[in-house]
Amino acid sequence: MKQVILNNGNEIPEIGFGTWQTAKGVQETVKSALEAGYRHIDTADIYGNEAEIGEAIEAFGIDRKELYLTTKIWNSNRNSIGVKQSVEQSLKKLKTDYLDLLLIHWPANEKQFENWKSINAETWKAMEELYKSGVVKSIGVSNFLVPHLKALLKTAEVIPAVNQIEFHPGYTQPETVEFCREEGIVVEAWSPIGSGRLLKDEDLKDIADQYGVSPAILCIQFCLQSGVVVLPKSENPENIKNNLRFERFKISESDMKALKTLEETGFSGLNPGTVDF
Ligand SMILES: NC(=O)c1ccc[n+]([C@@H]2O[C@H](COP(=O)([O-])OP(=O)(O)OC[C@H]3O[C@@H](n4cnc5c(N)ncnc54)[C@H](OP(=O)(O)O)[C@@H]3O)[C@@H](O)[C@H]2O)c1
Repeated sequence: MKQVILNNGNEIPEIGFGTWQTAKGVQETVKSALEAGYRHIDTADIYGNEAEIGEAIEAFGIDRKELYLTTKIWNSNRNSIGVKQSVEQSLKKLKTDYLDLLLIHWPANEKQFENWKSINAETWKAMEELYKSGVVKSIGVSNFLVPHLKALLKTAEVIPAVNQIEFHPGYTQPETVEFCREEGIVVEAWSPIGSGRLLKDEDLKDIADQYGVSPAILCIQFCLQSGVVVLPKSENPENIKNNLRFERFKISESDMKALKTLEETGFSGLNPGTVDF
């Protein structure tokens, strides 16, 4: 699978398997994903599924070095002790002795905390220590907007390798993406299909029809063509396979523009600057 090079020289597969809110049981879907050829899995402490993912990986019997595992620090573990305990737990559940990528799931934000900058700086410092110890191969953030990134960079010794943000047709966060590009931070797209909401969009469906692909595949290609690592989720084995193995095609410049400026039908409604969790 095509790899993207991070700012520390490590490589990340350009398509990863999303595991949030898996109704069927994540063990089954991760098994389908590994069988289909995914080697990059995206999870988080808060998803509550790391142990099941660990089981699925062990049962599949793959060499750890062939897998790329991402997890995230939840908001209740922002201090130094919390970060380290959270990582210890994640390692145990995932049955591994290192993580490929560790992310701050959401920034401490200006709505909830007066001292949000120092909270994020403390979380980051603890992650830098884990990075230096080698237990985490790359560190990054998620849902960081430009002000959160700018504040973090003031005290960071290690530049985040990744910013995982909501990104899909109709919601592309151009300011954040541009800032990340300037700073050498790879952008990852969460909810690339708008958690399924985009499948109902008639304009998107019309464009997909022109290319003879499904709306979901159009969304995935849109992310790849935007230079963004993409994390589709599916519980359907056929969709799981197609989302990884579809024949790559080129979306025209005018259709890329139309997709960028599509109505926000897929938007989650979550603004990292104002969420109260
Ligand atoms: N960092 C964060 O804060 C954050 C937030 C949200 C999500 N994420 C990550 O991003 C991942 C993906 O986002 P998401 O879970 O919101 O979902 P998503 O990938 O945007 O959309 C999943 C939906 O699309 C459908 N689908 C997928 N492939 C399809 C296909 N080929 N044809 C038809 N339908 C298809 C799925 O249904 P079927 O199951 O029927 O295929 C499901 O309803 C998450 O799982 C998680 O790992 C991170």
